[in-house]
Amino acid sequence: MVFSHLVGVFLLSSLVSSRIVDLPAVRVARQTLVSSNGQSDGKGDNVTADASAHHFKNADGTIGMNVTSTGNATSGSGSAGIGNIASGQVGNNHIGSTGNITATGPNSQVYSDIFGDIYGNAMSINSKQQGASSGTGDTAVRAAGNANLTQNGVASPTAANNNNIANAGATGSENSQAEVSSNQILTWDQLIAQIYGHAKGSGKTNAQANVDLGAGNQNNGIEVNGLVSGVNQNGGNVNAEVVGKGSMDGTGHNLSGGMSGSVNGSGSSQLVGANNLQSNRTGTNTTISTFGDAKSNGDGTNSLSLNSTSNVNSNNTVAGQIDMQNSANGSNKNMTVQNGLQVQDNKGGTLAIGYGEIKGNGTENSAANIGVNSQYDQNGHAQVNTTGNGSAVSNNRNSSLSMEGNAQVTGPNGTHSGSATVGGSAMGAYNNVTGTNQVVVGSGGTSGSARTEANGGGPGNSAAATNTDLILKNGNETRTSSVSGSVQATGDSTIVKSVSEVSDNNGVQTMSNFQHAVSNSKGSSSASASNSGWLKRRKRASLGVLFDKLI
Ligand SMILES: *[C@@H]1O[C@H](CO)[C@@H](O)[C@H](O)[C@H]1NC(C)=O
Ligand SMILES: *[C@@H]1O[C@H](CO)[C@@H](O)[C@H](O)[C@H]1NC(C)=O
Ligand SMILES: *[C@@H]1O[C@H](CO)[C@@H](O)[C@H](O)[C@H]1NC(C)=O
Ligand SMILES: *[C@@H]1O[C@H](CO)[C@@H](O)[C@H](O)[C@H]1NC(C)=O
Ligand SMILES: *[C@@H]1O[C@H](CO)[C@@H](O)[C@H](O)[C@H]1NC(C)=O
Ligand SMILES: *[C@@H]1O[C@H](CO)[C@@H](O)[C@H](O)[C@H]1NC(C)=O
Ligand SMILES: *[C@@H]1O[C@H](CO)[C@@H](O)[C@H](O)[C@H]1NC(C)=O
Ligand SMILES: *[C@@H]1O[C@H](CO)[C@@H](O)[C@H](O)[C@H]1NC(C)=O
Ligand SMILES: *[C@@H]1O[C@H](CO)[C@@H](O)[C@H](O)[C@H]1NC(C)=O
Ligand SMILES: *[C@@H]1O[C@H](CO)[C@@H](O)[C@H](O)[C@H]1NC(C)=O
Ligand SMILES: *[C@@H]1O[C@H](CO)[C@@H](O)[C@H](O)[C@H]1NC(C)=O
Ligand SMILES: *[C@@H]1O[C@H](CO)[C@@H](O)[C@H](O)[C@H]1NC(C)=O
Repeated sequence: MVFSHLVGVFLLSSLVSSRIVDLPAVRVARQTLVSSNGQSDGKGDNVTADASAHHFKNADGTIGMNVTSTGNATSGSGSAGIGNIASGQVGNNHIGSTGNITATGPNSQVYSDIFGDIYGNAMSINSKQQGASSGTGDTAVRAAGNANLTQNGVASPTAANNNNIANAGATGSENSQAEVSSNQILTWDQLIAQIYGHAKGSGKTNAQANVDLGAGNQNNGIEVNGLVSGVNQNGGNVNAEVVGKGSMDGTGHNLSGGMSGSVNGSGSSQLVGANNLQSNRTGTNTTISTFGDAKSNGDGTNSLSLNSTSNVNSNNTVAGQIDMQNSANGSNKNMTVQNGLQVQDNKGGTLAIGYGEIKGNGTENSAANIGVNSQYDQNGHAQVNTTGNGSAVSNNRNSSLSMEGNAQVTGPNGTHSGSATVGGSAMGAYNNVTGTNQVVVGSGGTSGSARTEANGGGPGNSAAATNTDLILKNGNETRTSSVSGSVQATGDSTIVKSVSEVSDNNGVQTMSNFQHAVSNSKGSSSASASNSGWLKRRKRASLGVLFDKLI
C-alpha cells in the first residue's frame, strides 16, 4: 500500500473562542499509527486562534507529523487568555505540549504558539508564550508551558511538569504594568529555554511588583523570583519595579534579577524587596538572594529607596549588590534600614548583612539619613558598608539622638563584623545633637568610625553628654573603642559642648574626647566637664586580654 500524503489544515478565527483539529488516527503501511491534535482556545475582546496538523511519509519511507497551535488575544477591558494544546504520535513516538497564558488588567494581550514535530525517531517541541498587561490598579500575566516527549512510554530525561512558568504582577494607582515571555525548544536530550518577566507599579499610598519564573527540572533547572513593595501612610508616592531573566541551554545557565523602589511621603513609610536566583544542575546548586527592608516614622517627611542587581553566570560565578537609603527631615525620627545578600556558589556559602538605625527627638526640623550597601563579586569578595548621619535640634526642651550601625560578613574565611553606636543629648535654651557613624566590613578587613557632638547654650542652664562605641571583630580578634563625656553649666548665660569621636581603620585606632563649659552670671555660676575613653583590643583568647586605658 502506498500512503504518501495526508494533510489536515484547519483554520478558525472567531471573536470568542475557537477550537480545532482532531485528526482521526490513520493506519498506514507497516501498521504505524499517526495521530495529532492541535487545539487553541482563546478569550478576550479580539481572539485569533489557529491550529494545523500535517502527516506525511517521504519517498525514503520516513513517516512524519507536524502539529501547530497558535492563538492571539487582546482585551481592552479585563482579561485575555489563550489555552493551547498540541500533541501527536507516530508509532511509539509521542509528543505533547500545552501553552497557556492569561493576562488581566485594563489593556491585556497574550500570544501562544506551539509547533511540534516527529520525523522518524526525532521529535521536538518549540513553544512560545508572551503577554503583557498595562493600565492602572492591578495587572498580571501568567504563562505556563508544558512539553514532553515519550518513546515507548518512557519520558525524555529533559521532561518536567510545567517546564516553563512565567508570572508577573504589579499594583499601582497611577501606573501598573506586567509582562512575561517564555520560550522553549525541547528535544530528547536538550532543553533550551528562555524566561523573562518584568513588573512595575507606581502610585499613591502603595505599589508592588513581583515576578516568578521557572524552567527545567531539579537536575537541570532555573528559577528567578523577585518582589518589591512599598507603602506610605499619608498617600505619598510609591514606585516598585522588578525584572527577571533566565536562560538555559547546553552550555549552562544565565540568570539575572533587578529590583528598584522608592517611597516619598510623610508619617510612616516602609519599603521591602527580595530577589532570588537559583540554578540547579546535577551535583551543583548555585543561589544568590538579595533582600532589604527600610522603615521610617516621624513627624516630618521621609524618603526610602532600594536598588539591587544580581546575576548567575554560566560558569557558576555569582555577583550581586543591594543598596538602600533612608532619609528623613523632621523634629522626631525613628528609622531603620537592613539589607543583605546570601550566596551559595562554587566558592562556598556567604551571608552578608547590614543594619542601620537612627532615633532622634527634638522640637525643630533637622535631617538624618542611613544607607546600607551590601555587595558580592565574581571573585567571592563580599562587603557591607553601613553609614549614618543624624541630628536632633530643640529650643527650650531636650534633644536626644541615638544611632546604631552594624555590618557582618560570614563566608569561607570566617566571620567579620562591626558595630558603631552613637548617643547624645543636650539641654539648654538652644541645643542640638549631631552624629555620624560608619562600618565597612569585607573579606579584606573591618573599619569603622563614630562621632557625636552635642551643643547647648543661651539664657539659663545648659548641659550636654555624648558617647560613641565601636566594636570590630575579625575572626576571633575583637577591637573595641569607646568614648563618653558630659558637661554642664549653670548660670544666667551658658554655653556647653561635648564631642566624642572614635575610629578604627583595620586596627589603627584613634579617639578624641572634648568637653567644654562656660558660664556667666551676676550671682553664682558653675561649669564642669568629665570624660572617659578606652581602647580595647582582644586578640586570640590564648593571648589574654589587652586593655589600654586612655584619657
Ligand atoms: C483583531 O485583531 C486583528 C489581528 O491583530 C486585527 O486585524 C483586527 O482589526 C482586530 N479586530 C478588532 C475588532 O479590533
Ligand atoms: C513540517 O516540518 C517540516 C520540518 O520542520 C517542515 O519542513 C514542513 O514545512 C512542516 N510542514 C508544515 C505543514 O508545517
Ligand atoms: C499574534 O501576535 C504575534 C505577536 O504580536 C504576531 O507576530 C502574530 O502574527 C499574531 N498571530 C496571529 C495569528 O494573529
Ligand atoms: C491549558 O489550556 C487547555 C486548553 O484550553 C486546557 O484544556 C488546560 O486545562 C489548560 N491547562 C492549565 C494548566 O491551565
Ligand atoms: C504531555 O503533554 C500532554 C499535552 O500537554 C499532557 O496531556 C500529558 O499529561 C503530558 N504528559 C506528561 C507525562 O507530562
Ligand atoms: C531547584 O532545587 C531546589 C532545592 O532542591 C528546589 O526547591 C527547586 O524546586 C529546584 N528548581 C527547579 C527549577 O527544579
Ligand atoms: C541542593 O539544594 C538542596 C536544597 O537546599 C539540597 O538538599 C541539596 O543537597 C543541594 N545539592 C547540592 C549538590 O548541593
Ligand atoms: C542601581 O544601581 C546600578 C548599579 O549600581 C546603577 O547602574 C543603576 O542606575 C541604579 N538604578 C537606580 C534606579 O538607582
Ligand atoms: C564567568 O563568567 C563571567 C560572565 O561571563 C565573567 O565575567 C567571569 O570572568 C567568568 N569567570 C571565570 C572564572 O571564568
Ligand atoms: C519606632 O518605629 C517602630 C516601627 O518601625 C515602632 O515599633 C517603635 O515603637 C517606634 N519607636 C518610637 C520611639 O516611636
Ligand atoms: C520626644 O520627646 C517628647 C518630650 O520629651 C516626648 O513626648 C516624645 O514622646 C518623644 N518622642 C520620641 C519619638 O521619642
Ligand atoms: C561607604 O558608603 C559611603 C556612603 O555611600 C561612601 O561614601 C563610601 O565611599 C563607602 N565606602 C566604601 C569602602 O565603599
